[in-house]
Amino acid sequence: MITFEEFKTQASKILGLNLSSYKAKRVQRRVESLMRRRNIPDYTTCLELLRNNSNFRADFLNHFTINTSEFFRNPSNFVTLKNEIFPELFAGGKKVKIWSAPCSNGCEPYSLAIIIDELGIKSHQYEILGVDIDPNILQAAKKGIYNSGALKNVSTERLQKYFKQVGTNTFALSEKIKKMVHFKEFDLLKDTYSKNWDLILCRNFFIYLTSDVKDLLTRKFVDALRPGGILFLGNTEFIFEPEKFGLSKIVSSFYRKI
Ligand SMILES: C[S@@+](CC[C@H](N)C(=O)[O-])C[C@H]1O[C@@H](n2cnc3c(N)ncnc32)[C@H](O)[C@@H]1O
Repeated sequence: MITFEEFKTQASKILGLNLSSYKAKRVQRRVESLMRRRNIPDYTTCLELLRNNSNFRADFLNHFTINTSEFFRNPSNFVTLKNEIFPELFAGGKKVKIWSAPCSNGCEPYSLAIIIDELGIKSHQYEILGVDIDPNILQAAKKGIYNSGALKNVSTERLQKYFKQVGTNTFALSEKIKKMVHFKEFDLLKDTYSKNWDLILCRNFFIYLTSDVKDLLTRKFVDALRPGGILFLGNTEFIFEPEKFGLSKIVSSFYRKI
């Protein structure tokens, strides 16, 4: 019988995903809940399935990555974005590069696109890229079909303007907004970050990582921002001593590269 630590090392190699970067207790909880659900008796059997069964590998990754997202998650931050951050970023007249990392099912980058459309900003003035490690969730993002749970912060006015009801509980995002965002499969733990972003959203991802990996990725994100660029985090995520990372805090959840 192998220990959980051995399982993690072997599974990371098979999956090409470093499971040690994520908070250990959470990884164990997720793995064990999947094992219970699939009646897998021990870690050795689980490893064999990971090695030999591509469907199980996909299920494992799907179960491991928490894809929960919604439009305008933490609405007051999107008000700050619309009223304070965007007017500043778009004032210069240069193309504004925005990176949603990770973007899950697209709710986050599409929320940005809706605000940009409302501000009347033209297509040559921005670029929005959403990335995620999970290919299935990126497919869902490209489809742009959402149930009402993901739309609970969308006003009636926005719902009427940007969505079409396609089922009892299902809404399709307008083609106009879908066209404003590009998506790409990307592993934030190991892939190379491109540079010169004006705004990076990294929300509800750090909470899953060990504090060392969180610090490492904070440095990579800061490096990827242009000087003066902005990092936007989730509501429960904080950077203590932001100046150590070359950042200064603007308001809650928003940091600027010095
Ligand atoms: C809770 S969602 C956050 C989505 C969005 N930012 C939000 O706040 O609503 C976390 C996402 O992180 C993705 N993820 C996990 N590990 C990743 C990695 N190493 N690289 C890129 N994305 C990853 C998952 O697939 C999942 O879609």
